[in-house]
Amino acid sequence: MPFTIAIDGPAASGKGTIARALSQRFGFHHLDTGLLYRAVGAKGGDPLSAARELQPGDLERSDLRSNEAGQAASRVAAIAEVRAALVEFQRSFARTEPGAVLDGRDIGTVICPAAELKLYVIASDEVRASRRAAEIGADAAETLAALRERDARDAARATAPLRPAEDAVTLDTTEMSIDEAVAQAIRLVEQRQTRS
Ligand code: DC
Repeated sequence: MPFTIAIDGPAASGKGTIARALSQRFGFHHLDTGLLYRAVGAKGGDPLSAARELQPGDLERSDLRSNEAGQAASRVAAIAEVRAALVEFQRSFARTEPGAVLDGRDIGTVICPAAELKLYVIASDEVRASRRAAEIGADAAETLAALRERDARDAARATAPLRPAEDAVTLDTTEMSIDEAVAQAIRLVEQRQTRS
């Protein structure tokens, strides 16, 4: 059975960085599920058709990282049928050997409720905004407003809202370096591996 790691949390909390580091450390496949919603939002037109017809190449567009693409993603992600169209791809990805790390908003709650490890990664709004603004070369105040708007929408939607799974371990990265956060996450994976 493949080992699955589910990482959820609000925008720019550090979950992508942790997911990438864990996938490298353990030789697991990594899926940034936010990219699926960003690609659907960026395609324009009818979001449900965009979700159903999504191609791997759509995930490689260079304009998917912007605040605007994040807002568009958050809007299409509130549509239950769009989410449903993306479930099977994510679940089959999660089953690839020897293991997979998926990061998003509903991985531990909806996509992979049986994941061996569930992490819920958080950080203060200000820290998240300054990290993301530096990463994409955007204004920090504008990025803070965009993150807050997105988190509020993602947490309030009826289908698969942003929230921790009951058995998720919360990792607050506000005062942690990347190395510290990754080291803690690695320890948690190793604990689960010896248990299973
Ligand atoms: O992780 P991200 O910031 O790239 O995600 C962009 C948006 O996509 C996010 O605001 C909400 C949506 N999303 C989602 O609803 N479910 C996921 N599993 C991942 C992302």
